[in-house]
Amino acid sequence: MSRVVKLAVIPGDGIGPEVVAEAEKVLDAVTSASDVAFEKTRFSLGAGRFLETGDTLTDDDLEAIKEHDAILLGAVGGVPGDPRLKDANIERGLLLKLRFELDHYVNLRPSKLYPGQLGPLADPGDIDFVVVREGTEGPYVGNGGSIRKGTPHEVANETSVNTAYGVERVVRYAFELAERRSKRLTLVHKTNVLVNAGALWQRTVQEVAIGHPDVAVDYLHVDAATIFLVTNPSRFDVIVTDNLFGDILTDLAGAVTGGIGLAASGNINPGGAFPSMFEPVHGSAPDIAGTGKADPTAAIGSVALLLDHLGLREEADRVTRAIEEDISERGAEPRTTIEIGDAIAARLQA
Ligand code: NAI
Ligand code: MG
Repeated sequence: MSRVVKLAVIPGDGIGPEVVAEAEKVLDAVTSASDVAFEKTRFSLGAGRFLETGDTLTDDDLEAIKEHDAILLGAVGGVPGDPRLKDANIERGLLLKLRFELDHYVNLRPSKLYPGQLGPLADPGDIDFVVVREGTEGPYVGNGGSIRKGTPHEVANETSVNTAYGVERVVRYAFELAERRSKRLTLVHKTNVLVNAGALWQRTVQEVAIGHPDVAVDYLHVDAATIFLVTNPSRFDVIVTDNLFGDILTDLAGAVTGGIGLAASGNINPGGAFPSMFEPVHGSAPDIAGTGKADPTAAIGSVALLLDHLGLREEADRVTRAIEEDISERGAEPRTTIEIGDAIAARLQA
């Protein structure tokens, strides 16, 4: 009896549908000969949907999405500053809402400089690390508010929420990941200034470390971490950090490994209570939408993370290898979105 995976597909806006089409092409190619079948449901969500209907993510959408085993998302959002989208609330009302409602407490962002890939660093060394960013707490939870708005006495607060439960579960995930990789884990925080949250994170890492004596544990303040990400990125294997620091570090990590067109990510609910969501790190890139210039590699890499999460390790490895081979043979001649997708899919046919 073959396995059926129910996949929710959210192509989104701008280049989202363009890169998702290539990701699906690769998913179809790698599973064509295997006994797993993906049953896809498409959800129209994002700026386009908002302009048509005036809503962002309804309760019905959310309930329907929850019925799936996993989610593949392209990118959502319109042209920044578009006045028609003033109330669309795409970031908080759609992306963050999905992450919070589906309890995606691990935001997984691997960074690898592939052989043959040129990054901006003159002497990068081997770059191959994963940032495990906490996804449901920190300053992004919406615990704040403002009073006296628009007056000289305006007060604006965003409280960073850190719970023992929330920190421990993400730290445990990071240690387990480090066990499967090079057994090095770096906590990144700002414990010298953010003393309350910092102490909780530090203590939790020390406690979880006792159960993982083989994992070498390191600590860096976030500002120092940005230096090392540029001067000595090979020192990192697994980085565990909070929601805000992780957001910033992973953009920098994406930049040092050759750019936003390659960076994949997973928003993971490790226990499987809700579907996990896989998406390229980049946005909807309205500046290049419709031109065929979008690199679908990040979306295809997100398919590899999705397959790995579903336990389809062999298929995940095959996709990763196909991406690596394609990147190592990329010439100076630019290729279109579809050409890159076709080339990677073709490596999986055999
Ligand atoms: P962006 O990531 O869409 O674009 C930044 C720059 O990178 C642009 O010059 C774009 O052309 C380029 N770029 C992005 N992806 C690329 C790819 N695959 N291949 C080649 N070049 C690529 O970020 P931006 O411009 O800040 O945001 C545009 C829209 O996307 C906004 O509405 C924003 O809110 C939304 N957004 C959505 C995200 C998501 O769906 N997860 C994440 C980030 C932004
Ligand atoms: Mg970001």
